[in-house]
Amino acid sequence: MNPASTPTQVPYHLAIIMDGNGRWAKSRGLPRLAGHHAGTENLRRILRSCVKHGIKILTLYAFSTENWGRPADEVRGLMGILEQVIERELNELHAEGVRIRHIGRMNGIAPRLQRKITHAVEMTRNNDTLILNVALNYGGRQEIIDAVRRLLADGVKPEALDDALFGQYLYTDGLPDPDLIVRTSGEMRVSNFLIWQGAYAEYYATPTYWPDFNEDELQKALDHYASRERRFGLVAEQTIAARSK
Ligand code: FPP
Repeated sequence: MNPASTPTQVPYHLAIIMDGNGRWAKSRGLPRLAGHHAGTENLRRILRSCVKHGIKILTLYAFSTENWGRPADEVRGLMGILEQVIERELNELHAEGVRIRHIGRMNGIAPRLQRKITHAVEMTRNNDTLILNVALNYGGRQEIIDAVRRLLADGVKPEALDDALFGQYLYTDGLPDPDLIVRTSGEMRVSNFLIWQGAYAEYYATPTYWPDFNEDELQKALDHYASRERRFGLVAEQTIAARSK
């Protein structure tokens, strides 16, 4: 768990459920994929804004294990967008010191896209300006099942298991939990996203569709986060004492 943050801090780890691309497109009489393209363009400005704010980890929910059930055209289009983004943005992201990580099941992703992801992860592995964690073919329950499978395969003794050890078996091994989880488009659901890691995260929901979630909208989310008192199950006096240690 990320230790208690001071109320004025920006989140160290921000996670975003980028929702509302389809409705954004529909409201303009455009096909759904146009919404995903607009959402992808928005990523650039939000990523750069995160760097400016000093956010160190940005986790984006790009494609869930459930999203495979969408119409074939949309799935194909989204996979194409993901490939294009890696091709188009990788060199610049690398130059800016962004480290790319993938969370989710590799198995199930087309081999060509798998190779592009592996290349991006390898190329950027020593960067440290910001970790961009892309949740692709990701599901929180699936992540927990994968962790349990590996724990069993490793013969971990039941009494040896605790939060910290379990965390080492998750896709996010080595990363602190998200401090703030933002969901755009007005939905108030977790949708199988970081269900273990989000145990103590602050949540922020906005009716704004993802393509319209600009720097000002990000600022509002950060202001909201800064105004929260994070207690991690303790009482206020204890968290104040912990911060002053
Ligand atoms: C949710 O909107 C959005 C998605 C399922 C896809 C998000 C993916 C991108 C923006 C592509 C690029 C991502 C990366 C990290 C390179 P929705 O389609 O569920 O919208 P709706 O609820 O209005 O239908």
